[in-house]
Amino acid sequence: MSLPFPVISADEAANLIQHGQTIGFSGFTAAGAAKAIPAALARRAKREHEAGRPFKVGVLTGASTGASLDGALAEAEAISFRTPYQSDSHLRNQINRGEVKFVDMHLSMLPQMARYGFLGPLNYAVIEACDVTAGGGIVLSTSVGASNTYLHLADRVLIELNSKHPPALLGMHDIFEPKDPPMRAEIPIYRVSDRIGSPICLVDPKKIVGIVHTNLEDESSNFEQPNELTVRIGELVAEFLASELKSGRIPPKFLPLQSGVGNIANAVLASLGGNSNIPPFEMYTEVLQDSVLALIEQERCTYASTCALTLSTEMMHQFRSNMEFFRRKIVLRPQEISNNPEVVRRLGIVSMNTAIEVDLSGNVNSTHLMGKTLMNGIGGSGDFTRNAYLSIFSCPSTAKGGKISAIVPLASHMDHSEHSVQIVITEQGIADLRGKDPHERAQLIINNCAHPDYREQLHDYLKHVHAGQHEPISLSLGLSMHRQFMRHGDMRGINWDEFR
Ligand code: COA
Repeated sequence: MSLPFPVISADEAANLIQHGQTIGFSGFTAAGAAKAIPAALARRAKREHEAGRPFKVGVLTGASTGASLDGALAEAEAISFRTPYQSDSHLRNQINRGEVKFVDMHLSMLPQMARYGFLGPLNYAVIEACDVTAGGGIVLSTSVGASNTYLHLADRVLIELNSKHPPALLGMHDIFEPKDPPMRAEIPIYRVSDRIGSPICLVDPKKIVGIVHTNLEDESSNFEQPNELTVRIGELVAEFLASELKSGRIPPKFLPLQSGVGNIANAVLASLGGNSNIPPFEMYTEVLQDSVLALIEQERCTYASTCALTLSTEMMHQFRSNMEFFRRKIVLRPQEISNNPEVVRRLGIVSMNTAIEVDLSGNVNSTHLMGKTLMNGIGGSGDFTRNAYLSIFSCPSTAKGGKISAIVPLASHMDHSEHSVQIVITEQGIADLRGKDPHERAQLIINNCAHPDYREQLHDYLKHVHAGQHEPISLSLGLSMHRQFMRHGDMRGINWDEFR
């Protein structure tokens, strides 16, 4: 059936967008990200720049995206403002040079920030779909992100109708958007698999100004194979959860798991799946990676609620070839729901995220190297950590060949406070911080998690802390290991007098 919307090329779509406008793109990771229109917009920006005219747009998405969106637009120097998350190296450099304004935001907050008008007007929604109806029914593709919100907020809508994603994805999504205060009611999710919304997004058809046909795979990046270190961290996380189960602190039916993104998260999930002391589990998470799809097939993971299917191309083929099976096991939710604090607290989620550094009180930095340089962003880690039944952070005890300790006296940037962080795990061991005062925490973190190269130095730091303080902090020496690295290229071998 032909649709009553103009079919246009990606270049024609890009020509509709003006310098200075703000665009809400689909995409939560590279999954479901708009591809053809942002790539065309990048080409347009280059042409405009060559002609001596300014051309930059504000870019809102669900989370990070792929090469054709963040990658191409950054390369074309076409982004003025970016939120809520990114992981593209080119864009990261531009943000760190102050060329792009970046607002690092809890992912669950983004849709309501946009609805409340805190992010200004939204001129266009550019959304990838696998099906569209004449009445404005839109079947999203491999992620939901904030697409449902952008579709109803934007003045005009452009759809990338991607034939690579089969229309049989219909039924995978559960679109629900809470009302704004004071009309907001509870989000009625009581079990991971509860469906509370609609399988499609509905948009006023008059707003759809163009459909661009595409046939493009998601540009998901592949993970590194687990190595000795990530396997060890994964094993420790699995052992910790098995012991919580044994002691009765996790109920026999287990609790839903959330897992972050990246190499360590992937290895942790693989270890959990392989641990015979962990019963089959459910996931309530924001990103479903390759390792989880395999666990669903093996029935180690019995159900997964997620915001995105972030799969390698090979795993995506596997998913498509067995879609009926996976439809009964997976629900795709908007990020406002997949990451919602109310639901996370109600379901009693075990959150597992990755730190860049952890300080001796248990504060975690997940976003900024040496407190200054943005890595990716906070993503959903705060949505889950703050509200989890058990919040776990893991990371290797050192970075950059041992020259940087992940355990530091004072975090150089703080994303997750000591009040929310419960368990810290490195390849060295586990620090269970529950019920411990700041001085006990410091001892546990040094003894159980710091690399042996740094333990003595960290104990030494504590000797410089005045007795009788509630927090083991020296205001003059707190950041001295960071300063030591900036001066000497290695955090080891510190002379405290140099920094006093
Ligand atoms: N100082 C300097 N660099 C550090 C560092 C430190 N303390 N700790 C890690 N790094 C570097 C690593 O060396 C590596 O650099 P490289 O890419 O040049 O090799 C890079 O950071 C990534 O570290 P890695 O150990 O491979 O871990 P990862 O891929 O699991 O990523 C985070 C770790 C923290 C960057 C990543 O998990 C993240 O961005 N988290 C925040 C968002 C989040 O949690 N999202 C999920 C919520 S649901």
